[in-house]
Amino acid sequence: MALTQDDLKRAVAQAAIAYVPDDCIVGVGTGSTANFFIDELAKIKNRIRAAVASSEASAKRLQGHGIEVLSLNEAGDLPVYVDGADEITRHMHMVKGGGGALTREKIVAAASKKFICVCDASKLVDVLGKFPLPIEVIPMARSYVAREVVKLGGQPVLREGFTTDNGNVILDVHNLQIMNPVELESALNQLAGVVTNGLFARRGADVLLLGTPDGVQTLTA
Ligand code: A5P
Repeated sequence: MALTQDDLKRAVAQAAIAYVPDDCIVGVGTGSTANFFIDELAKIKNRIRAAVASSEASAKRLQGHGIEVLSLNEAGDLPVYVDGADEITRHMHMVKGGGGALTREKIVAAASKKFICVCDASKLVDVLGKFPLPIEVIPMARSYVAREVVKLGGQPVLREGFTTDNGNVILDVHNLQIMNPVELESALNQLAGVVTNGLFARRGADVLLLGTPDGVQTLTA
């Protein structure tokens, strides 16, 4: 029987467990693939100390499994962060934030020694940008940031009816062909009112576990 996308996500989530050291505090991402990882983590919960979550939703799921969730301030630096992506290149640059958790994801990733990205094969691309790039914006800056993004060649669309865990809005930017993700990530962060953008290029993934019909492929930076 052919493998489903969920089978591939489950396979990479299982593979990611090998990167979780004993007695550690694990950084945990957000989204459907991260959810599979949380479910796998539950099976080995006796050999970890706790987790730091990149969203309220992940925190809830972790707690539902009886895994203690600490704030990043309590936890300090983490050995490993496991999360999915909306797009990733072989250079380990990513677009993230489809679930709207990009800011907390970027913070937890920044505080982690290793970023393990878990994806099914559909996420691997040559050029980022087909997936609309999310930007978290302070609400009063929404129109200003949107006008500036148009000048950069993008087509921003407000994510209707969505507020982030931090009380902000998301602009999803369409029609970008991101040839230089490191540069664009910095340029967008310079716009007044931008909290974070979904490019994870300055700090990309260290390991990509890619779920393919032939098994889990491991790519490294
Ligand atoms: C959440 O904000 C995102 O960054 C997710 O990591 C990304 O959307 C991947 O989600 P899936 O695993 O559901 O595809």
